[in-house]
Amino acid sequence: MDTPTIEYYNQNAPNLAETYGIVGGAWHNRLNHALRRAETVLDIGCGTGRDLAHVLMSGKDAYGADPSAPMLEEAANHLSSMGLDATGRLFQTGLPEPAGLPLTEFDAIVACASLMHLPSQDLATSLKSIHSLLKTGGVFLLLTPASRPQIDAGTRRDPTQRLFTELSREVLEPLLGETGFAIESTIAMPDGLGRAGYTWLSIQCLKK
Ligand SMILES: C[S@@+](CC[C@H](N)C(=O)[O-])C[C@H]1O[C@@H](n2cnc3c(N)ncnc32)[C@H](O)[C@@H]1O
Repeated sequence: MDTPTIEYYNQNAPNLAETYGIVGGAWHNRLNHALRRAETVLDIGCGTGRDLAHVLMSGKDAYGADPSAPMLEEAANHLSSMGLDATGRLFQTGLPEPAGLPLTEFDAIVACASLMHLPSQDLATSLKSIHSLLKTGGVFLLLTPASRPQIDAGTRRDPTQRLFTELSREVLEPLLGETGFAIESTIAMPDGLGRAGYTWLSIQCLKK
């Protein structure tokens, strides 16, 4: 876990709830399709709960995990504003080794814009954790930056000091394969916030 990154989210949670809340569209279409057969879902790095609420609204048994308590507080507020009960659904934990989750195995795990905050040395352990938290045949759907302005080439940090580890298709696909996932689809996605210079990569895979 990267401390300056978590500190940024701790300090900015209320503003981010508003900013991130508008993402939907193409991302939610992809999410809906990936989760169509899932009943139990974990959103790892759930932040302010936009996707968790979306998945709960579709009737699934969904849970969110995030290391930032203020982000989880915003998630609880968001769920409640949608008429959803957040009790027992939000967990302050994160990768590489999430602890204290309510189920030992899920049908699907989603990581939307959270894996890039892992220090590169935590990536393999994090993918193993995700793999072991999935049922065989379970779906893992991720979204991570493909291009993003203002990342320092040396430190991999942006001006807010958040860490943005480079997770290209060339890095992720072989690592997912070695971890025991079969890739189902890899696609480029537009920025959900409409920002120029930001593009995203989404990989959907299955636990073999
Ligand atoms: C850009 S936000 C995305 C939040 C949410 N998934 C969304 O799409 O709106 C990144 C989130 O990743 C979380 N995060 C950072 N490091 C993490 C880690 N090691 N494990 C899990 N989540 C982490 C942050 O606290 C933050 O809530």
